[in-house]
Amino acid sequence: MSTDGVDLSRRRMLVGVTAAVGAVGIVGAAVPFVKSWNPSAKAKAAGAPVTADLSGLEPGQQMVVEWRGKPVWVVRRTPEALADLKKVEGSLRDPNSDESVQPDFAKNEYRSINKDYLILVGICTHLGCSPTYRPEVAPADLGQSFRGGFFCPCHGSTYDMAGRVYKGVPAPLNLEVPPYKYVTDSVVIIGESA
Ligand code: FES
Repeated sequence: MSTDGVDLSRRRMLVGVTAAVGAVGIVGAAVPFVKSWNPSAKAKAAGAPVTADLSGLEPGQQMVVEWRGKPVWVVRRTPEALADLKKVEGSLRDPNSDESVQPDFAKNEYRSINKDYLILVGICTHLGCSPTYRPEVAPADLGQSFRGGFFCPCHGSTYDMAGRVYKGVPAPLNLEVPPYKYVTDSVVIIGESA
């Protein structure tokens, strides 16, 4: 009996370790190494634009670049995520982004120039924490109405896959869209308007 017990507990431990390694692998894949050509630290501090290469970003992945000392997210949305933008509108505080901060080119249903790539300033509009990318649909901790987006761990604000804030959370506004423009299909300059 003791031999069986040892084997069983060892097997459970191994399964646990494998699951943990798998989870880390998924998180790592969701935030790939940022390929961007950043200007000098001095130029960045002064607010110089930064150039980012999106060519390595797979559907569903997020990358983070730094602009003016702030995190700027680029998310490559999947076709499913794009389809869900319409479905969540009834749960959002400002679905048409009438009150939010964004360049004119982003005042559309996707809040972006190219609908596949969402570009946002990654700072919560409540008190300035940086939300977490949560692409899962209806995860247990965020509820059935959550169709993927962003979750702020500080006070629980949630945003959809266009950075639009859900109703009933502390954040008052949608996430900000920074000025940006494309120089090729996959290279974008953040900090300069189209
Ligand atoms: S700072 Fe994000 S919910 Fe308060």
